[in-house]
Amino acid sequence: MTSTDTMLRFPTREQISPQFTLSKKINQTTYLIDGILHEWNGPVQDVISPVRISDNGTLVAECIGSYPFLTEKEALPALDAAVKAYSNGCGVWPTMSVEKRIAHVELFVSRMKEKRSDVVKLLMWEIGKNLPDSEKEFDRTVEYIVDTIEALKSLDRTSSRFEIQQGIAAQIRRAPLGVVLCMGPYNYPLNETYTTLIPALIMGNTVIFKPPKHGVLLHHPLLEAFRDSFPAGVVNTVYGSGSKIIPPIMASGKVNVLAFIGSSKVAGTLKKQHPLPHRLKCVLGLDAKNAGIILEDADIDNTVKECITGSLSFNGQRCTALKILFVHSSIVDEFVNKLCTGVSNLQCGMPWDSGVSITPIPEENKVPYLNEIVRDAQAKGARICNKSGGTYLESLYIPAVLYPVNKDMRVYTEEQFGPVVPIVPFDNIEEPVHYVFESSYGQQVSLFGKNPEVMAALIDKMVNQVSRVNINSQCQRGPDVFPFTGRKDSAEGTLSVSDALKVFSIRTLVAAKLNDTNKALISDITRERRSAFLSTDFLF
Ligand code: G3H
Repeated sequence: MTSTDTMLRFPTREQISPQFTLSKKINQTTYLIDGILHEWNGPVQDVISPVRISDNGTLVAECIGSYPFLTEKEALPALDAAVKAYSNGCGVWPTMSVEKRIAHVELFVSRMKEKRSDVVKLLMWEIGKNLPDSEKEFDRTVEYIVDTIEALKSLDRTSSRFEIQQGIAAQIRRAPLGVVLCMGPYNYPLNETYTTLIPALIMGNTVIFKPPKHGVLLHHPLLEAFRDSFPAGVVNTVYGSGSKIIPPIMASGKVNVLAFIGSSKVAGTLKKQHPLPHRLKCVLGLDAKNAGIILEDADIDNTVKECITGSLSFNGQRCTALKILFVHSSIVDEFVNKLCTGVSNLQCGMPWDSGVSITPIPEENKVPYLNEIVRDAQAKGARICNKSGGTYLESLYIPAVLYPVNKDMRVYTEEQFGPVVPIVPFDNIEEPVHYVFESSYGQQVSLFGKNPEVMAALIDKMVNQVSRVNINSQCQRGPDVFPFTGRKDSAEGTLSVSDALKVFSIRTLVAAKLNDTNKALISDITRERRSAFLSTDFLF
């Protein structure tokens, strides 16, 4: 279906301000392995922007560049380089002092900052993220790296002394785990990749990094910074079809940590490919179907505001998005009306347009999928309540507010990861509670209400089902110093600035019975600074 709705429009080339135009196609021909930017002359993958260009009444899919479509032949050398750089934990990087590793990361972040405008522009063109959110993704990532450095300094300070227990002196530090395979998602291709990659690196691991299918070129401006900031083989990049190049890497048994943000189905497949399940540690951010539970005494205006941003920021393409709203039947009509008014006020346009919230969607099969689940809900009794909801033009999709939704509809359980807002009326609080209990996912929930007794009882039920309970506020990951994780099929491991340092390392100690020989030995090693691990140096 096409729509003549005036909201659904793509620009002509001339209508795009020069400051947001890509001056030329970015045809990436290099990939980083073992400290060398290798030239690639083989097949490439074209990158098609979700932004269409209107050309004499025709909408043209805009090819903004291409990247190397590597094969197993190139993927395995990336693994070999990471294995060599780690060298059973004896490589230059894993044995380097924390202070020196921090200096490398500081060099990287200073080079990274120089590329802000290139990366922000590519975020807009590659995944359709609006300008303020693209800038925020870049700045938040830089801030995350800076905070990671500070968190590591503080961790190192507490490890710079010996503990003495039962006549045994020990120095306890965190040591790296080995080779880490980092794979981020398309919705936060920079931030969610770097929130695993940087802590993995700074703890002394070596890394193979594969960008998501959408959001590849934005990493290109940073490749030289990686090459110049780290010893050879510490950061290696692979590109291409994940289902072709990742299985041989996993099947080698040489990956020690899988850091993956994506679907639980893909994570399950990847884990099974590894022949040594106990050796493989996993740090996973997976599916979620976060519920908003709106009680009869909720402040409707605030709840509507939080539910709109919670459900529809970046077109609902956030793992933390509110993906189903349970509303008490006594207020549901007012809630739906106000929500629809708010959704109708959202501006639809190109990522660089001022004030825009609804932007083109990068996944080519997403709009057909949204149509399917909306039609399914309609066939089972739901209505699209907002004006123009569910109309679309190519990759632009006006959010659909669906009401009343029930358990027979696909949208009740499926994670839509897009601009569809399902609303379920309830009379008995046990209905949404039961939904959360039965859900396959357990990331977050948002509770809206004012009665302390009712809210407290609900909080206590929810905290053992999900990993973050938000009060009168949307679900979200940040601030990044807070732990971010999930139960059930939603996550493995916890990511926050400080937690990430822990998941990419293992507590390791050097211990000695306190006799004269050992005292003299340890004193000599620390005084003469003979060991990077056994050291009492204090990091300022
Ligand atoms: O897609 C999942 C992101 O981690 C969500 O982060 O809640 O800050 O948007 P956010």
